[in-house]
Amino acid sequence: MINLISDTVTKPSKGMLDAMYSAKVGDDVFKEDPTVIQLEERLADMFKQEAALFCPSGTMANQIAIKAHTKPLDEMLCDISSHVYQFEVGGYAFHSQIAVNPIHGQDGLLNAAHIKSNIKAEFDWLPRTSLVVLENSANRAGGNVYEAQDILEISEICKSLQLKLHLDGARIFNAMIATGMKADWIGSQFDSISVCLSKGLGCPIGSVLIGSKEFIKESRRIRKVMGGGMRQVGILAAAGLYALDHNIERLKVDHDHAKQLESCLVNHKMVSKVLPVKTNIVIFQLKENWKADDFVLNLKKAGINSSAFGNNSLRWVTHLDITKEMINQTCDVMDQMGNKLS
Ligand SMILES: Cc1ncc(COP(=O)(O)O)c(C=O)c1O
Repeated sequence: MINLISDTVTKPSKGMLDAMYSAKVGDDVFKEDPTVIQLEERLADMFKQEAALFCPSGTMANQIAIKAHTKPLDEMLCDISSHVYQFEVGGYAFHSQIAVNPIHGQDGLLNAAHIKSNIKAEFDWLPRTSLVVLENSANRAGGNVYEAQDILEISEICKSLQLKLHLDGARIFNAMIATGMKADWIGSQFDSISVCLSKGLGCPIGSVLIGSKEFIKESRRIRKVMGGGMRQVGILAAAGLYALDHNIERLKVDHDHAKQLESCLVNHKMVSKVLPVKTNIVIFQLKENWKADDFVLNLKKAGINSSAFGNNSLRWVTHLDITKEMINQTCDVMDQMGNKLS
């Protein structure tokens, strides 16, 4: 099966498993796991922040950040398509008792004007805008990426108005490879960053939340109350360290594969629109007479797993278990499906 459902479907490689097998471990709730400490220090250092916290998932890392940055009755700004708004079960309300103002940004991204025009005035009857969350790359927007200038302007507004700025960087390494943006610069623009090890980087599990010492101290407590205090998880942190050493630069291959998929879709008879491919995500819309579920089924019969995105769109995600041959095969299958219509 060619599995294009997500970049979360990867299996740990032999090298990664070897690293996990030989990891030194300890009880991380007592801060005694040397491999977890090494991973946290490595990522804090990479993004030139003071500290970091290993978390089981991207959702938990984002939700901890939201809780640490806000008080009940506050409000967070984010793009309407963002993961923190759409796919974290309304955790901002459940964990943090805050409101959300989901903004219709530009192709999944926000700019300074969006932020300025959505900050609420100080009235007793309004929630207080206190947090902005950006997502880079933007999953539902087809892996779209921020320009440095937009991040800079948003960061300046947030600093001047004492708003906290969090980055959902589940796929930040994809965005960095696509744009050349550097980790230390990104770190200097945000109050906190969550990065996922279990997406393009190929780990079985794990996200890391990065920020100031004070923020991470508070985040550690919140992780505990969410049930995310972990014990001998050096075996998982070892996978993360291996991924940082071996799986960042190669993301370029996934991006090239996604570009190849884009080019076999753009003029396809069954496809009406492909979102411009910037990283490893390909979202395409089918012509009116095609339903996404039927299309997914047809592809499955031909050995390709993909996910329906709404009624008539599909998402393909490339990753390190997808080879050039699989991409060629996917394009061949699409050609054959198109030819049958002629
Ligand atoms: C942009 C983004 N943020 C956060 C997450 C959450 O990650 P997890 O599945 O590890 O909770 C995802 C998952 O797909 C995502 O795409």
